[in-house]
Amino acid sequence: MTSGDLLADRRLEMARALMERGDVSAAIELLEQALERACEWAAGHFLLGEWRDGAGDRDGAVEAYSRALALDPQDRAGAILRLALIGAAAMPDAPPPAYVAGVFDDHAEDFDSALVERLGYTVPRALADLVAELAYDDGRFARVLDLGCGTGLAGERFRDRAAWLEGVDLSEGMVAVARRKGFYDALAVDEAHAFLAGVTACYDLIVAADVLVYLGDLAGLFQAARRALLPGGRFAFSVEQGQGDGFVLNRGHRYAHGENYVAAGLAAAGLTLVEMRHAVCRMEGGQPVEGLLVLAERSRADGAADISSPGLLAGVGAIRRNF
Ligand SMILES: C[S@@+](CC[C@H](N)C(=O)[O-])C[C@H]1O[C@@H](n2cnc3c(N)ncnc32)[C@H](O)[C@@H]1O
Repeated sequence: MTSGDLLADRRLEMARALMERGDVSAAIELLEQALERACEWAAGHFLLGEWRDGAGDRDGAVEAYSRALALDPQDRAGAILRLALIGAAAMPDAPPPAYVAGVFDDHAEDFDSALVERLGYTVPRALADLVAELAYDDGRFARVLDLGCGTGLAGERFRDRAAWLEGVDLSEGMVAVARRKGFYDALAVDEAHAFLAGVTACYDLIVAADVLVYLGDLAGLFQAARRALLPGGRFAFSVEQGQGDGFVLNRGHRYAHGENYVAAGLAAAGLTLVEMRHAVCRMEGGQPVEGLLVLAERSRADGAADISSPGLLAGVGAIRRNF
């Protein structure tokens, strides 16, 4: 982290050392001095917001986060989420894409070990089991999309059941790891809504393992998923379970969705809820994170006219006898 100004960087270094020693107010003062020299430094203002927030100076934190946001409208640091969490901004419907991409780019290389080995992450396996358990026939699919594929943990689970497996993810770093593993027939770096907007009646299965936690309002995504599915196609996903009928942003910058919210959103988008079950998604701070595993379906009678390529549907029929 550098401001581009040598003296400001030195002050930050000293401020960090003070912070480590527990001298919070001196650290904040020194960071403020650094920012007098590097006043356009968005990441510095964001850090100041964090330190002020931690010190209980809410107004000061709001001022610093707001400055960080103004200086970096893409909001790579996620200042809008911090502002929402301290009640100084409305909860955004989704986190800034640049923030999500940055978080996962930074953690792509150690993502698998961090999540699976240290946090007991089980969602890909649990979704694969759910899809297999409730399959109509042999549980094979012609064309599967792994939405928010990350490093390919879900792709690995679905590879053997998919004649064609595609992955898409916002984070270039995550996609690079997925590419190295070689499970996918095609991979793309794109935002989920933007990717789905370009697809009509294409997949007989869409999987989104631990991805909707980074999308607050799911209405648009459910509609886009319905359009992207073939009639009879299925959408398997997980969410973290929230209370009530809506969705909330939690301290970990992930959204939690209520059961009723998910069920009503699917119905409003024209998707049929096949199954919703409770599961522990992973551990956090030694505590289980409760989630929902969901299987939904586009009705077979829905949108046959959407099918852009009769050849594709014929191919799907040949591989999946149930469709
Ligand atoms: C917790 S990881 C899960 C990855 C993978 N599905 C798995 O089960 O290991 C969440 C992934 O969702 C991606 N993601 C989050 N929001 C996204 C969006 N709006 N569009 C595309 N990808 C997104 C992130 O980049 C990240 O790779």
